[in-house]
Amino acid sequence: MAILVSDSERVRTVRINRPDKRNALTLPMYEAMAQALEEATAHEDVRCVLIAGHASGFSAGSDIGDFATRAESGGLAAPIIRFLHALARCEKPLVAAVAGRAVGVGTTLLLHCDYVVAADDARLTTPFVSLALTPEAGSSLLAPRLLGHARAFELLVMGHPLDAAAAKDAGLVNAVVPAAELEETALDAARKIAALPPLAVKAARALMRPSPEEIVARIDQEAEVFRARLTSAEAKAAFAAFLNRKK
Ligand code: COA
Repeated sequence: MAILVSDSERVRTVRINRPDKRNALTLPMYEAMAQALEEATAHEDVRCVLIAGHASGFSAGSDIGDFATRAESGGLAAPIIRFLHALARCEKPLVAAVAGRAVGVGTTLLLHCDYVVAADDARLTTPFVSLALTPEAGSSLLAPRLLGHARAFELLVMGHPLDAAAAKDAGLVNAVVPAAELEETALDAARKIAALPPLAVKAARALMRPSPEEIVARIDQEAEVFRARLTSAEAKAAFAAFLNRKK
């Protein structure tokens, strides 16, 4: 299974598990993650969600093969939109454990998280514009708020990477730990959040975040712009260059 979902001690772990493709996300994986988040909101016994990847990498972002197919047929596929909406609307705190590369949505999903632990080898990048695409997942709203416009532009438009220390300085990451301690540190944080009074957590979190509907509206607006970019000649050329780079 490319997405593993398990519940323990009131923490739901959603693990991305496609290491041979650097945890690139296919449409069925987006569906599975969306379902896991929607259920987490609905289940009283889930009090926190931990999103984790693999030691070899958190996620290489959307599967570029899928993007190449969509470039022929239209914009962001329904499972991606469903997942992004579920992220924005999730009522349970989101913790992430990030090792290695976090590319594209692998980075922008972190903007929705409440507590992010990074291994010291983590490297966050969003090469949207170099792929002739535009930012997604509400990142055009959330990143400038969190980082300020200048740093958000460097990340989202110029594609400059953030290593773990820089991501912590920028306020995107709470803690940087040796890779061997990543899972334990993130799980410990998730368990501590899960042990707090859940209704107070929910109310505090809702007060602190932009409204889900504001984020959803931006996700939809970004998807419209993305659709036009995805079908452009320059994007098709960029996808073909990635897919054929080893030939
Ligand atoms: N979509 C589809 N396949 C992907 C992928 C993606 N986003 N990222 C990696 N893969 C595949 C590679 O094609 C390769 O498959 P193969 O073994 O069948 O050739 C495999 O995963 C390993 O990738 P590779 O590039 O050899 O690993 P690496 O460790 O040298 O580099 C990355 C890892 C993440 C830096 C690199 O794979 C990469 O840049 N991926 C694209 C990231 C991206 O642009 N995502 C979209 C953001 S909008």
